[in-house]
This record gives sequence, C-alpha cells and structure tokens, in this order.
Amino acid sequence: MNPPPLVTTAASPWQPARRAARMNPSVIREILKVTERPGIISLAGGLPSPDSFPIDAMREATTRVLRDAPREALQYAASEGYAPLREWVADQMASHGMRVSAAQVLITTGSQQGLDLVGKVLIDPGSRVAVEAPTYLGALQAFAPYEPEVVTVPCDDDGPLPEALHVAKGSRFLYMLPNFQNPSGRCMSEARRAALVRSARAIDLPIVEDNPYGDLWFDTAPPPPLASRWAEGTVYLGSFSKVLAPGLRLGYVIAPPELYPKLLQAKQAADLHTPGFNQRVVHEVIRDGFLREHVPTIRARYQAQRDAMRAALEAHMPSGCHWRVPSGGMFFWVTLPAGIDATALLPRAVELGMAYVPGAAFFAAEPQHNTLRLSFVTVAPVQIARGVELLAQALKSAE
Ligand SMILES: Cc1ncc(COP(=O)(O)O)c(C=O)c1O
Repeated sequence: MNPPPLVTTAASPWQPARRAARMNPSVIREILKVTERPGIISLAGGLPSPDSFPIDAMREATTRVLRDAPREALQYAASEGYAPLREWVADQMASHGMRVSAAQVLITTGSQQGLDLVGKVLIDPGSRVAVEAPTYLGALQAFAPYEPEVVTVPCDDDGPLPEALHVAKGSRFLYMLPNFQNPSGRCMSEARRAALVRSARAIDLPIVEDNPYGDLWFDTAPPPPLASRWAEGTVYLGSFSKVLAPGLRLGYVIAPPELYPKLLQAKQAADLHTPGFNQRVVHEVIRDGFLREHVPTIRARYQAQRDAMRAALEAHMPSGCHWRVPSGGMFFWVTLPAGIDATALLPRAVELGMAYVPGAAFFAAEPQHNTLRLSFVTVAPVQIARGVELLAQALKSAE
C-alpha cells in the first residue's frame, strides 16, 4: 500500500519524512476523547483499574530509595537497566519455564517501547511482518513507520492456525499475544502453542511474544510462553503496567544473545535509558515477593468484574451476538450479527450513554466490521450492567 501523500503547505518550511505519513492517531485514543464526556459509561478504555495501584507500597519504596540511594537514583544510568531489576526479571522467568540470564534482559520504557525497538531493529521497508487477526493496535502503530508489509495469519478461537503459517514464510517475525489477547481475550492452549512453535521453527520464522496480561488469570495460569519452547527464536516482551501501574512506564525485552546488542543500541539512541528512579522504586517494591500477594488481589477484582459483564451480556444482548468468556485479562470481544457495523453504531451508543471500541481497528487487513471490544476492569459492576444494557438498546435500534 502506498503511503498517503504528505500534507505540506506553501507557508510551512517543514517537510515530514515518508515514515511520518504512515503514523496515524490511535483510533482508540480518539474514541476515548469522545467518551471522556461526563455521564458516559466507557467500556472502551484499555486502562488497568486505578483501584489496583499499590499506592502505599509505592510511597514507602519511594521514600526508601530517596533516603538510601538518592544520588544514584537521580543520576543517568545504564542503558540495559538497573542490574538488580534485570536479575529479578531473569529469576522470575524461571517460574515460566524459561532459562534466562540477566544479560538477556533489557529494561524498556513500557513494553510499547520494546515493540518500537523490535520494529527498528528488524523491519526494513517492504519486509514482511506477520500478525494475528485481530491483533494489538499499538503494535501495528509501532511497526508502521518502519514500512513493513503486514501479513495476517488465519486464526481461530485458539489463535493462529499452525497449518496456515506458511503464509508468513519469509517474514521478519510473527508478532503474537498468546495470553488473554488484546483485543480478543483469547488464551492459546498448550497444544496450539506447541504446534505453532513447531511450524514456526520449520520455516525459520522468529516470534515476537508480547505478554502484558499473562499474570491476570482467573482460574488457572496460562500454559508456558512460546519462548520456553524456542528461546533462540523468540523475543519476549513483559510489562509492569498491568501488575503495578502503567504510569511507571516500565517493561522489559528478553532477547536472544545475538539480537541483544542491536536492541540495546536502538534503546540508547531512543532515550539513553528508562528512568533509573522508577526502576529502583519498582525493584524496592517487588524485591521481597510483594507481587505474590498483590497480583491475586487484582485477579480477584477483575474476575468479579468479568463475571458482572458476563451476566450483563447474557441478560441483555439480542440474539445473534456472540462472545467468548475470557479466562483472564481485561477484555470481552463481541461479534454482532453479520451486517451490523460496530463503527457506524458507535455514535448511537454514545448518544445513549455508553462507549466501546469498534473491532475493525484491530485488523491489519480485512477488518471484521461486526466486532467490538469491551473492557471490564475500570467500571464498577452496576455501571457495567447499565453500559451493556445501553449497548443492547443501541443494537436493537439498529435492527
Ligand atoms: C498487547 C499490549 N502490548 C503492549 C502494551 C503496552 O504496554 P506498556 O507499554 O504499558 O507496557 C499494551 C498496553 O495496553 C498491550 O495491550
């Protein structure tokens, strides 16, 4: 696809780069602006619940860091990240079946930066990148400026079809979200993971595995990461955004040793390093097992909200609508009857007092217009029920 023509005016001395023409505002952020109107029940956001933020623990850790190592914490620091935090991440991976050395861990400014660095290091203009359908919009945004040709791998409810992976042959990598995917909420079975990695290895297709939601499971932990099956062929991205707080902007990349130096150089050029102060505070919070107590409280909170949304969908949605009940994460993915366009329906839903994200934005190609994403984590159960009822009303008025 050719990039749209650059918009320049005679009065402007600025000539944007070709890659700038490929940058688009996030559809979701644009929708969120509309839904910030008071009185709207927004099931559109992708934000974690602020009620889950460990404010006291953060306050105490901040005080300790400023008391014990203020000069170091406020100084420039290593691009790789704060060594004890890198060690912590490497140790943590062992519980996911991955043998990782701290030397493979690069601390990033959110996992979103990890996606950008991966794009910068691995994508040439016109090279192919394979994604799921649907996939995380922020990854499509991160890769777009590097001008890939995006290939969509056919998927079912369990993720990409291993027997269809040949469509991705020759791609620089396959971008995957095996756990409680954003937006679809799906979690890949162990059998599918094994088959997919087998197929990827057979065609030398490396994997970029993004896992911000894996700890937010409700009943049982998801199967081990793809990276545990093919360490040298997988770059793994993790994040503290959903288990602590996204405002910290703290994530990490675990890369095979031959790729690490290039990612590190790209990171240096991007921002020298992720704030050392934040890294030390987070390490201070989590070093003695804090997450073992804290994460189950988030799971319990989100599970109750998931149940509220499930009940509301069952009670109110008209026939012909389908959804999968997510076993973790933050989202329901709803399929409307064929022929109903969720983008066209949104203004009516907002008029009635609720908002969602139309699903089309999450497809790199051939969008399914009759899909939408609902978040269940930031809105109280009564509001969830009311929001879903209003969605059902909007749908009935469209029929
Ligand atoms: C799938 C996925 N990857 C990456 C990110 C970015 O997370 P962060 O940069 O906060 O770590 C998000 C944020 O919602 C996400 O949903």
